[in-house]
Amino acid sequence: MQDYHDYLDQVLVNEEQLQARIAELGAEISRDYNGQPLHLICILRGGVMFLTDLMRQITTPCTVDFMAVSSYGTARKSTGQVRITLDLTEDIQERHVLLVEDIVDSGYTIRSVLELLETRKPISLKVCTLLDKPERREVEVPIHYRGFQIPNKFVFGYGLDIDEYYRNLPFIGTVDLDRYHPVDHD
Ligand code: IMP
Ligand code: MG
Repeated sequence: MQDYHDYLDQVLVNEEQLQARIAELGAEISRDYNGQPLHLICILRGGVMFLTDLMRQITTPCTVDFMAVSSYGTARKSTGQVRITLDLTEDIQERHVLLVEDIVDSGYTIRSVLELLETRKPISLKVCTLLDKPERREVEVPIHYRGFQIPNKFVFGYGLDIDEYYRNLPFIGTVDLDRYHPVDHD
């Protein structure tokens, strides 16, 4: 298997920058919800690193739940159709809900999840994404809290994968796709 150093183009956001921004987001969220209980919904798997760091910076009482979705299409381009592969454990009716996502790219994932969750009648439903790639947007989606706006490049690390690997890296890097060879699992 290739080492990521072989195709790391550049470190886009380093560990220190990530943690500093997440502390700011946590403070902003804590201020906005101001002591009201907040229900965080993490979209697996990419959002998990962000969720765990973010929730440590939130001072309003919070609970957490998880859901997983998969988009139809190829690994790096979604088609607009999203399928729920793991649903929430708890009801969200009468709760303030904040969706925690790794990245908003085309916008299809967030749009589908928002449409689904709205039908379950939360008191409020907002979106917090670590990364936003606006150049790739195909559908309008609301983003209430945004960590970083990034250029139109494929990124990995800190929850984001390349073919499921490298989610554990503490920074976000860009890939040089010419130097990347997909893992052969056979
Ligand atoms: P969207 O539905 O196109 O907005 O895509 C959102 C999902 O695609 C994210 O939750 C990621 O899992 C994945 N994704 C989009 N861009 C990247 C990237 O640059 N690196 C890794 N995963 C990405
Ligand atoms: Mg992915």
